[in-house]
Amino acid sequence: MPLTRRQFLASTAALALTPKTSFAATTPVIEATTGRVQLIDAEFGDYPETEVWGYNGSVPGPLLRFKQGDTLKQELFNSLPSPTAIHWHGIRVPNAMDGVPGMTQDAVPTGARFHYEFPLKDAGTYWYHSHNQSTEQVARGLYGVVVVEETNAPDVDHDIVVVLDDWRLSDEAQITDDFGAMHDWTHAGRLGNYIHAQLSEQPDSVPENARLRLRFVNVATDRVITASVQGGDGKLVARDGMPLDTPEPLDAMPFGPAERADVIIDAQANEANALQIVLHEGDTGYLLKEIPISGTQPARAAIEPLPANPMPRLSDLTDALTVPLHMEGGAMGGLREATYEGETLDIRGLVDKGQVWAFNGQAGLSDAPLVEVPQGQILRIPMQNDTAFPHAMHLHGTHFQEVLPDGSFGPLKDTLLMQPRENREIAFIASAPGKWLMHCHMLSHASAGMRTWIKVV
Ligand code: C2O
Ligand code: CU
Repeated sequence: MPLTRRQFLASTAALALTPKTSFAATTPVIEATTGRVQLIDAEFGDYPETEVWGYNGSVPGPLLRFKQGDTLKQELFNSLPSPTAIHWHGIRVPNAMDGVPGMTQDAVPTGARFHYEFPLKDAGTYWYHSHNQSTEQVARGLYGVVVVEETNAPDVDHDIVVVLDDWRLSDEAQITDDFGAMHDWTHAGRLGNYIHAQLSEQPDSVPENARLRLRFVNVATDRVITASVQGGDGKLVARDGMPLDTPEPLDAMPFGPAERADVIIDAQANEANALQIVLHEGDTGYLLKEIPISGTQPARAAIEPLPANPMPRLSDLTDALTVPLHMEGGAMGGLREATYEGETLDIRGLVDKGQVWAFNGQAGLSDAPLVEVPQGQILRIPMQNDTAFPHAMHLHGTHFQEVLPDGSFGPLKDTLLMQPRENREIAFIASAPGKWLMHCHMLSHASAGMRTWIKVV
C-alpha cells in the first residue's frame, strides 16, 4: 500500500490534518490551565488557534522522562475553572496517588494544589490524564506522556513518542462542547473529525538503517485508532509499557483508547523514501506523519527483547477467586433495567440519568465494590461483552494478564480492547491495598455507566 502525502490530502482532508503543537519538557509543577495551540497546520488552510485545556497550557502536556527507580515528584496546580486531578495511567502507584476524585483523593479545586509522589518501579511508556469529568477534560487536552527509561535501555538513534489523538472540532477549529451528547454515549462515544499523530521529535531525515524507538499512545477519549509504521524492518517490543518476552512482527496495530505500544524499527530503503506512520480506516491508509530517509549507515544487530520489569506475573490460577463481569447496554444492546445510585431504574429512567451501560446490572459506581479481597489474592475476571460495541477495559493499580483459551497467559496489559459480543478473561494479583477502579476507557462509556471498583485490604 504505497502512500503519498498528495494522495492523502486529496482523499482525506477532514480525517487527518497534521497539527503543529509541541511537547513541552519535564517540569516540577504541572499547571492545569487554558491555552491556545495552533492545532491545524497552515498548509491546510487558514485556521485559527484552538482553545484547549492543557498541562502547562500545552497539548500534549510536558513529556515527563525518568529513569527506572526514580521517584516521580509532580505538583499539580489547578488554574482551570473546574476541579481536576491527575491519574497516572498504567503506573503502579500507591492508592492515594491514583488520582481518582471521590475514591482516592478529593478533586483539586481552582487555585489549589496536590502533590503526587511515588517510585517508578517499572520502565516503559505510560501517560497521565485528568480523571475528573474526564470525558470533557481529556477531550479538551488534559493529557501527557510519562517515559520511564530502562536502566539498560536499548541503543537507538531516536526515541520518539507518538501521540495519537482524535479531536472534534468546529469549522473554526474549536473543540465542540457537546460532551454529554446522548447519541455518542449510547454508541461508540465522542468520535472526532480530526485524527492525528504528534511526535515528540521530528528529525528532518534519518539514514537507512537508523534505529528508531517509537512509543505509541492513544489518548483519544473514545476512538479505536489503527496505525502502522511503514518503511522499515521492525518489531513490537512492548505493550502498555510492559516488555514482550518475544518481540512480535510489526503489523497494523489497533489501539483502544489508552493503549500503548513500543516499536523498534530500522529504516530501510523504500519507494516512498520515508518512514511513515499510517492510519488505517477500513481498507484505506492515511499518512499521519513521515520521516524522510536519506543517506545510509551500517546495519544494526537484531532487535532484542527489552529487559523485563519487576511487575509480578501469574504462574497458576489454583487459588484464584473468580468474579464474572457482564457488560450490557448501549444502542442495540437490549438493557432493560439497572441499579443506579441505589435505585432500580428501567431504561427510560436510566437514559434520564445519562446512564446507559452497566456491569452486572449496576450503572456507575456502587457503594459496595465488585469484590473485596485480601492483598495477594489472585482474581480472575471473565468478561462478557454483551453489547454491540467494542470496549477498552482498564484496571487501575496493576497490570493484568489475559487468560487465553488454551489456559496460557497473555502479556501484561492495563487495557484490553474487546470486540462486540466478545468474551475475554483477565487475571491478576491484587497486590496493593486500596480502592481500584475498573472501567471502560472509552470515556463516554465510563461516564455513562461502565465503571466498577475492587477493594484490596
Ligand atoms: Cu486512563 Cu481510569 O484511566
Ligand atoms: Cu466502552
